[in-house]
Amino acid sequence: MDIERARIFRPVAEPRIVENAYTEDQHRRLLDVVRRHGPWTLILAQHFKSAEELIATTAGMVPEGVTPTLDMFLSPVFRGYFSYGGVCIRPEIEDCFYNTKFLALVRDYWKAEYAEPEGMLFNIQGPCGGAGAPHVDATRFRGMGLDNTPIWLMNTMAKSGLFKRWQARKAQVVTWYYRGSVGGGFVYWPEGPHAQPRVLEAPMWGRAAVVENEMMFHTAQTNGPAAMRKPAGLALNSVMEADPEVPGAWRISTDGTVIQQIPEQEFRFLVHWGANVYMDLEELKVTRDHTDDLTHEMAFDILISDLRARGEQFEVPTDPMTDKSFIGLLTRVYDVGIPLHFPPEPGEAQAA
Ligand SMILES: [Fe+2]
Repeated sequence: MDIERARIFRPVAEPRIVENAYTEDQHRRLLDVVRRHGPWTLILAQHFKSAEELIATTAGMVPEGVTPTLDMFLSPVFRGYFSYGGVCIRPEIEDCFYNTKFLALVRDYWKAEYAEPEGMLFNIQGPCGGAGAPHVDATRFRGMGLDNTPIWLMNTMAKSGLFKRWQARKAQVVTWYYRGSVGGGFVYWPEGPHAQPRVLEAPMWGRAAVVENEMMFHTAQTNGPAAMRKPAGLALNSVMEADPEVPGAWRISTDGTVIQQIPEQEFRFLVHWGANVYMDLEELKVTRDHTDDLTHEMAFDILISDLRARGEQFEVPTDPMTDKSFIGLLTRVYDVGIPLHFPPEPGEAQAA
């Protein structure tokens, strides 16, 4: 691992742990929205249209010689949204979204003057084995976002460390409700993917972390009884919803057939609230008035100069956005890899 590059991936500040992030009443209303408006689809299904697409995209994560299958990446974690385009779409939880307490937390985290809510979503799940690989969340730059730029390019830009001036300042307040007996914590690498991870241990009820997840590797810890972690019949079109027959319980179905019932005790609820942060009025104006936006041409010029300075031999492509060998070069030069160290897997012995 390139330690210098790995060191780029450190959050602006040490994550801060907050207890009772939402009031009991706010938690009740958040959960009520989730119970009443299901069923909810898999996170994976929201990113990939088919099993083939998922396998093609994630194939790089399996060791050479191993044929990737859908089963390797399918994990029973479901997602829904409390907001759309920066607007709260559930009036009953508006106070949770336009959250003055959270705005103060993220301003203080960044030592910044201004913040605005950007988005709010939830993950729900029952037992699950290490829900996905360690990752950083997708970032955005002034002038270049998901609306005009492919994710691979924005990821490469973040990894290069060359575009900090344009990178959006963001922070999140991530809150967990999980009373299960095995695992279920939050694993994060605050000093970089080359350094030791830390674990925010469950059970937790309204415990939150203030983080910059675009610049910090993180993942969910395995949770729940081993025998329940991968329900038979789980597919890309599986859904999760409140169990209408058992108060507090949930169920997962595939094509209308229930494949797993999840007792309240094993239910894990994560609420993810994200904000845009502006250091001062000048930075807010530069952002809103688009007076210092990146263009694709500028981004490629910066990358190409850096590659030359590193002594890389290559031909400047006519269309760098689609040129496969150029994309391969960028991916190789700016590779960060995955974290070097992992915490031990939670064992059933912890159940005591
Ligand atoms: Fe994430």
